[in-house]
Amino acid sequence: MDREVWFETLRRRVADFYLSDPADEFRQSGRSAGAERWFETRHCLVEAIDRSGDFMDIGCANGLLLDTLIEWLGPDGLTIVPHGIDFVPELIELARRRHPHHVDNFSVANVWDWAPDRRYDYVRTNVEYVPDTDRAGNLRRLFDETVGPGGRLIVCHYVGGGNQTDDIAGLMRSVGLDVSGITGADGVAVAWVDAPGRSADS
Ligand SMILES: C[S@@+](CC[C@H](N)C(=O)[O-])C[C@H]1O[C@@H](n2cnc3c(N)ncnc32)[C@H](O)[C@@H]1O
Repeated sequence: MDREVWFETLRRRVADFYLSDPADEFRQSGRSAGAERWFETRHCLVEAIDRSGDFMDIGCANGLLLDTLIEWLGPDGLTIVPHGIDFVPELIELARRRHPHHVDNFSVANVWDWAPDRRYDYVRTNVEYVPDTDRAGNLRRLFDETVGPGGRLIVCHYVGGGNQTDDIAGLMRSVGLDVSGITGADGVAVAWVDAPGRSADS
């Protein structure tokens, strides 16, 4: 399928589902099963965050993940500054409302051709945001162009139904990304890679 058609099909599908219930903040982030399931499927990401910093959530939807990570990291004395992009404009509007002190940190963009003018301490993304054949190359580009010195690229795969799990660590290794950690939950796989300059105590 033509790449532009692929993105437009996904964008429409996301907008139809995520925006179908204005009262459901979980649905606006792709999950409609409520707070408990949200915790079950997202709290594992805390394992990938071991210091404070600027956190870019690629595909941030309504900004709920950033919001809940800030809350979950608080007791450990860690602070993340929220940043996000998403290719659905209505979701970016919701994310800005959720993070009123950081409205300028959110913008409408497709990860495929996103070219930020800065780098981040954390960049989180999903493999499934681009067509299969573009996945590995997209991760390599994100690592090279958007993660700051000593920063971390966190790669997720949210497995929809069934038991198919992509080998995201293998995908990352296929483009020379040396995986430094993995975690996961029911329906979620996560792996991360560190940029040069990260040491245990920096
Ligand atoms: C499952 S939600 C993720 C929400 C939150 N970041 C999390 O991890 O729970 C996926 C979001 O990614 C966005 N998205 C999917 N493909 C994208 C792309 N190519 N570029 C930018 N955003 C994309 C969708 O619009 C949707 O809001």
